[in-house]
This record gives sequence, C-alpha cells and structure tokens, in this order.
Amino acid sequence: MLSTTYLTLLFAATISAHTAVWAPGMYCRGGADPNVDDPNTNLAVNPLYQHTKEDWWFQHHRGCDAAPPAAGDFLSIPANGEFTVELAHNRAVTTLSYDGTQATDWPDGQQHPEDWDAGEGKCLEDGALHTRNESSQGATAWAISYQSDLKAVTMESLAVFSTKDHTPWKRLATYKVPDLRECAEEGCTCAWLWIPNGCGEPNMYMQGFKCKVTNASPTARPLAAAQVPTYCADDQSKCVQGAKQMLAWHQLEGNNIETPDGTTPTYNTKCGWAEGAQTDIFDITVAQVPTRPTPANTTITSFPGVPASTSS
Ligand SMILES: *[C@@H]1O[C@H](CO)[C@@H](O)[C@H](O)[C@H]1NC(C)=O
Ligand SMILES: *[C@@H]1O[C@H](CO)[C@@H](O)[C@H](O)[C@H]1NC(C)=O
Repeated sequence: MLSTTYLTLLFAATISAHTAVWAPGMYCRGGADPNVDDPNTNLAVNPLYQHTKEDWWFQHHRGCDAAPPAAGDFLSIPANGEFTVELAHNRAVTTLSYDGTQATDWPDGQQHPEDWDAGEGKCLEDGALHTRNESSQGATAWAISYQSDLKAVTMESLAVFSTKDHTPWKRLATYKVPDLRECAEEGCTCAWLWIPNGCGEPNMYMQGFKCKVTNASPTARPLAAAQVPTYCADDQSKCVQGAKQMLAWHQLEGNNIETPDGTTPTYNTKCGWAEGAQTDIFDITVAQVPTRPTPANTTITSFPGVPASTSS
C-alpha cells in the first residue's frame, strides 16, 4: 500500500511535468541512474529547449541516451499494423509502475470530462498537455533509424514513419505503421517526437527507444534518406514529399525548420505529414527482392541484388 505522504509527494512531482511515452524499449524508464529503477520518475518527460545538438540529441543533457533499456527489451513495431503506447506525465501513472493502480484514462492519473477544455483563450491547468482542448492539440510522431547504435543515428537515417493528430491527449495512443523492413538482430533505434501547438515554452520533445519491426515482409524496402521538412501550412505545394527528418526547433544548434512568427511547426499537414502511417518513405530505386532467401539451404542460387549463398 502507498502511504498518504508518499501519494502527496507522488502527485506533487507530477504537477510541473510534461508528457512522454512509457513503453517497452524506452531509455530512462527508471531514470538515468543505472543502479536505481525509479517507479516514480518523470525524467523522460521534460522538453528540450535551447540546447546544443549534442545535448538535445536523445536527451543527452539529462543522461537518458546512456540509460538504455534492459538487454532484450524492445518496442515492437508491427509492419503494416499498429501499436499502442502510454502517454503520461510520470511513470507512476502508467502500467509500468505500481501494477497500474495509479493509471487512469488520462496522462496525469486523474479523471477529466471527455470534452475537457480550458475555455476561451486559456490553456489547460494541467500544464503538461500544452493545449486548450483535444482539437487544438498538435500532433506526435515516431521516427525510425536502422542503426542499432544510438550514437550512429543521424538526422538523415532517422525518418518519421507515423504521426497521430491531436495527441498527446488520453493515456493510450495508437500509431499506424507502414511497410517497414526488419531490423538487424540488435534492433533499430526509434524516437518519439512532439512539438506542442502553443500553450507554453516553444520547445520540442525527442525520446529514445530500442525497437524492432515485427511481421516484416521479406520484400520490404529500405528507407530513403530523410529530407529536411518545410513549413507548408500556407501552401501545401511547398510540402516536402517522401521520407522526412524530425523537426528540430528552438535549439542552440541543429535546427532544421523556421516558421513565420507566431506559428509552430507540427507533425501534421502543416509540415507535410498526413496523419497515420507514412507510406512514401522508402527507397523505391531498390528492387523488391527477398532480403533473406529462406530456407538458407535451398537450391536457389541467385536473387537479383542478393549475393548467392549456401550454408553448409
Ligand atoms: C478548442 O480550442 C480551440 C482553440 O482555442 C477553439 O477554437 C475550439 O473552439 C475549441 N474546441 C472546442 C470543442 O471547444
Ligand atoms: C545443405 O546443403 C548441403 C550441400 O548442398 C547438403 O549436403 C546438406 O544436406 C543440406 N542440408 C540440409 C539440412 O538440407
């Protein structure tokens, strides 16, 4: 049982919090200290603002890039399917802590009306969703790199593969997945991304995961190099098509987007992302050939583009 004092501390800790994903494969699940598995941490939720590139990249400045998940713990990304994660202000109010006893339908572990709204000209006092209501919320996104080593990931190898409009909102969020190909045995590196649509400091979120694509088609193509996105809310013909990079905004270094005064770049049509699975992110110059002839010991000796091999 949790003591009253403890609960008071727990909820006090959530008040100044923001929002992050709590799911398998996450970095900083128990905080940044590898010797402590903190069930009441909110280290991963804090936004990124005016950092050097080295510092904002996968939350390096708070040590999260050096706090990987346990060996073998991956977020499963089902190719051509969907996956559901928890969005919350603190691990305490998710199913990753206290057997889920503090979790509700909402990211703060409290109860709210379905049409929760701060009212004209106001932002929700919750302070962590950075919005007036559900429809004014921006969007969140996931990106994937086929580099298993987080340090080897680059902006060009990390492509946004899924977006969800009007999130974060409820605790559970489901994202759709395009025809991603399989990761190497050591897994891929994924990032959860968000730029709030006003209601607070104009900052951004980038959170690291070890992930694996499941149910991948043997003929799935590799990603194309991720391009710099443009702000195209005023003219959709200016939107960049195909694989796009995460939005890097309001940092000291590494920014890749500027927007007109008073506007915010968002992982939605404002920057060229239609909601859902991003199906145009693949290198279509690569022939669709099986990446792994199976079984390995068949008599097939050549696939176009795949070296013939027989195991013995
Ligand atoms: C949500 O907030 C926006 C922005 O303040 C407002 O225009 C809209 O009417 C609100 N939606 C609802 C359903 O109240
Ligand atoms: C694999 O191929 C080799 C060489 O062709 C053959 O001798 C062996 O029996 C095969 N193994 C299996 C399990 O089919």
